[in-house]
Parts: sequence; structure tokens; C-alpha cells
Amino acid sequence: MTSFRRGAPIRRLLGMTLRVAIVGGGPAGIYAADQLIKSEAAVSLDLIERLPAPFGLVRYGVAPDHPRIKEIIKALQRVIAHPDVRFLGNVDFGVDVKLEELREFYDAVIVATGAMADRDLGIPGEDLDGSHGAADFVSWYDAHPDVPRTWPLQATSVAVLGVGNVALDVARVLAKTGEEMLSTDIPAHVYEGLRDKTITDVHVFARRGPAYAKFSPLELRELAHSPNVDVIVHPEGFEVDDHSMQHIQRNKQSKMVLDTLANWVGREPEGKPHRIHLHFLEQPVEIVEDPARPGTVGALRTERTRLTGDGGVIGTGEVTTWDVQSVYRAVGYRSTPLPGIPFDHAAAVVPNDGGRVLDLAGEPIPGLFVTGWIKRGPVGLIGHTKSDAAETVAHLLAATSAVAPSRRPEDVDAHLAHRGVAVATHESWELLDRHEIALGEAEGRLRIKVGDRGEMLRIGGVAGAE
Ligand SMILES: Cc1cc2nc3c(=O)[nH]c(=O)nc-3n(C[C@H](O)[C@H](O)[C@H](O)COP(=O)(O)OP(=O)(O)OC[C@H]3O[C@@H](n4cnc5c(N)ncnc54)[C@H](O)[C@@H]3O)c2cc1C
Ligand SMILES: NC(=O)c1ccc[n+]([C@@H]2O[C@H](COP(=O)([O-])OP(=O)(O)OC[C@H]3O[C@@H](n4cnc5c(N)ncnc54)[C@H](OP(=O)(O)O)[C@@H]3O)[C@@H](O)[C@H]2O)c1
Repeated sequence: MTSFRRGAPIRRLLGMTLRVAIVGGGPAGIYAADQLIKSEAAVSLDLIERLPAPFGLVRYGVAPDHPRIKEIIKALQRVIAHPDVRFLGNVDFGVDVKLEELREFYDAVIVATGAMADRDLGIPGEDLDGSHGAADFVSWYDAHPDVPRTWPLQATSVAVLGVGNVALDVARVLAKTGEEMLSTDIPAHVYEGLRDKTITDVHVFARRGPAYAKFSPLELRELAHSPNVDVIVHPEGFEVDDHSMQHIQRNKQSKMVLDTLANWVGREPEGKPHRIHLHFLEQPVEIVEDPARPGTVGALRTERTRLTGDGGVIGTGEVTTWDVQSVYRAVGYRSTPLPGIPFDHAAAVVPNDGGRVLDLAGEPIPGLFVTGWIKRGPVGLIGHTKSDAAETVAHLLAATSAVAPSRRPEDVDAHLAHRGVAVATHESWELLDRHEIALGEAEGRLRIKVGDRGEMLRIGGVAGAE
């Protein structure tokens, strides 16, 4: 790796090391660090992360029963272990350190804080008890340390709104048994919640036709692999028009998804104890309150739509009421504004030009950059954040020079110590990582996650943690 960095030692001798703060330790931030350490510049990087553990949605979004995808952590871990990178975990940007302070300590700042909130659906009843955002449920089953440890799963029928990969993850976890999930990295409290759930039927609703489902083909086919779950594609609404055909001709993934769904339409269920129902051309219009339990979900109302021939749909006025006791809204994630950083509230991203953050006049703000989901919105796979980082880092290197003598890492350390922040380091993450792997080994599993922030810090031996 050092062979790529011919200029680095000379610049370092001249005291010209570029100090960069990367805010957010998910894949976007880590790939930005990777691009910087592979560049010609002499760099010194701090990865500032709110959680005691790195990897963002790879650790706290990717489903526990997808361990193969989580393998990418090994490559990300190598970047964090690089001598020019420091992991500063348990540090909340905007609270423990502010933008003006980062401006003092670093030559450039890259914001890579992703998207953690649920996008609003905007229908009546969205705020009832039992109407859940997918992001919250995902955080629970992935043992995110900032969410409650219990989750209400005492329903028999539930609805999942949206037909993206998050909807697929949520529907699968709701339908599979706790026993099926026990070989994964879920801690005891998540296993117990899943073991005790009473759900038999999961109804997934798409407002458009099957050609426009945003599932990945592999993940869709995997639904049928559970010995406990029948997948039922309902024939009503399974409509494919000319535009659908043009769409699948342009998009190989959509074609594979449509082929799989078409194979399943009208197939007889095998009598497995749980069912996932896929309904197309049903637009959610209201989450209905249960009159017997005021304030809680009692049903979902959808309106049948019809294809308009241009990829869109229009309501037909035909309304169906579904007897469900909870609703999971999987209609997309949303980034939230950060103190001191411009934010485009309509698009829910930081306004930018190829990763250069723009001010209100549309001019690039010197030394301030953005990458990942907060740069371009909450779509795309982990791999997409790599090309994203390349674009942002190219702009950063073209526009930023180190001041001599360099800003010093000790300055930010002193600031955080003064604020009383218990900083998790790369070494503390390694201790936690080894601890989780050992917990897993004892039960024949790859890992068992620790989901309590205090415990994570204590296991990591973080100085100053209670
Ligand atoms: C439920 C779900 C499952 C997914 N599964 C897959 C999959 O199987 N395969 C795949 O390829 N892609 C998957 N994706 C997509 C993938 O996770 C994203 O493309 C990727 O994680 C986006 O990277 P990011 O770094 O921009 O954001 P994130 O991964 O969200 O990382 C952002 C980081 O910033 C930190 N942060 C936020 N605010 C602050 C703050 N104020 N101070 C300090 N740190 C902060 C967060 O804690 C987080 O660690 C999934 C997405 C979701 C939502
Ligand atoms: N295993 C994996 O690889 C994996 C797992 C999880 C997530 N991811 C990735 O992470 C990204 C985010 O996934 P996501 O599922 O959150 O987003 P997504 O792919 O954009 O899917 C969102 C779904 O919500 C629907 N929707 C949006 N607004 C709606 C409304 N008002 N009413 C009804 N339905 C509505 C969309 O339908 P329309 O199409 O009609 O708008 C779409 O079906 C994606 O790129 C995904 O591939 C990957």
C-alpha cells in the first residue's frame, strides 16, 4: 500500500501532513479514509463515530441472517487499522465536537453520517402505537445500542409497506422463527423477542406492479428457503403492461425479480406455519385505529391502483381493509440535518457538487466535503459508497492543502478530554470484536453482539467509561 504513496514521506518531513476529520464510521467514511491513505498525499485521519463500534449500517442495518455480506467488515477493518487512521468512537458530532472546532483541528472535514431515520409516509394513523418505522425495527434486531431492548411482536397479522430490500429484510425477520435466527449474531434479548412472537401472516404491499419491485433477485429467492415460511404472491394486482416490459428489458435485475414472482403467482401454499403474502397495486391510504384499544393499530386500508402506462399508478377508488395489528413502514430511510452543516430539507441531503458542500449561494465551502448516503440519498449498496468516496476525495485533494506546521492530533484529544468524552479507539474496538467472537464461539456461532453502550465501552477498556 505504501508504494502508492510516493510523495507522502517527503511531505511529512516538511511537516505538510493533511489532517482530515471524517465524521461517520460507516462504509462511506471508511472508503473515504481508504482513498486518502492510498493517495499521494501525506495524511493523518481521524474517523469520528457516534457509536463505540465502527461500520455503520454494515453492522446495524445488514440483516443478521446475511453473514456473508457482513464479511465486508474484514476489508473495512484493515483501513481502520492503518497507522495513518485513528478511530475516535463514542464521539457525537454536534454534541461532543462542533464544526467550528473541527475547522480548528483539521485542514478538511468529510461528513459521512448516512441516514438513520424513517421517511414519513404521510397517511393518517402513521403515529398510532403499532405503526413502526422499518429503521427502528432493524436497529432493534441488529442490537443498536441506542434503541430499547424490547420490541412488541404480539400480533398475528402484520403489514409491511414498500417493496425494497429493507421491506424484504423486515418481512423475512418477522416471518422466520426465533430458532431459525439463533445461529446468527443476535444477542439474547433479540432472540427472546423473536422466539416469543405470535405472528403468522406478513402482508407486504406494493403500490406499483411487480415489474417495479426494488428487490434484489437473490434476496427475493431466499424468501422461499425457510422451512417455516410459505411465500404467496396474490394474483389480484399482478399486472404487467407494455411499460413494465420495456422496464425489465432495460433492467436485468427487475427481469429476474419479475420471473421469480411470476413463478410463484397462484402457487399452492405448502402448509408451513408462517406466510409472507405479496400484494401488488395496493397503495396504503390509512392506518386505522382499533376502537377497542384507542391509540393503537387495528387495521390497514389500501386503495387498489392501476398502471398508467408510464411506470406510474393511479388510484381506482376500490378500498380494502386488512385485519392487521401492526404496520411496518419500509418506504425508505432519511438523513437528518447536522449542526452547522447546510441541509436540503426537500431532498434530505447535504447540498453538494460531487461531494463539495455548497453554501446557500450554491458556492463550495472550502474544506467541507460529504460522501455516502447523506451526499446522494438513502439508496444503493455498500459497494456504491466506494465510488462515491473516490469522487469526494478527488475534489478534496484538488482543493485542500495542509498548513505547515501541521495541525496536531493531540489538540482534538485534549478537546475531547476537556469535554469528558470517553473515546473508544481502534484498540477498544478490537477488544470488543474479540469478545463478541469468543461469545459466539462458545455457542458455535460466528459472533454474538453486545448491544449495550456501557458494556461495549467497558469490554473495550475505554478510559473514562462508567
Ligand atoms: C436495513 C438495511 C440493510 C442493508 N443491507 C445491505 C446489504 O445487505 N448489502 C448491501 O450492499 N447494502 C445494504 N444496505 C445499504 C448499505 O448499508 C448502505 O449503502 C451504506 O451503509 C451507506 O453507507 P454510509 O456510510 O453512507 O451510511 P451508514 O452506514 O449509515 O454510516 C453512517 C455512520 O455515521 C455515524 N453517525 C451518524 N451521525 C453521527 C454523528 N452526529 N456523529 C458521529 N457519527 C455519526 C453512524 O453511527 C454510522 O456509523 C442496507 C441498508 C439498510 C438500511
Ligand atoms: N440485501 C441487500 O442487498 C439490501 C438490503 C437492504 C437494503 N439494501 C439497499 O438499501 C437501499 C435502501 O433500501 P429501501 O428498501 O429502504 O429503499 P428502496 O429500494 O428505495 O425501496 C423503497 C420502497 O418503498 C416504496 N415507497 C416509497 N414511498 C412509498 C409510498 N408513499 N407508498 C407506498 N410505497 C412507497 C417504493 O415504491 P416505489 O418504487 O413505487 O416508489 C419502494 O418499493 C436500497 O438501495 C437497497 O437495495 C440492500
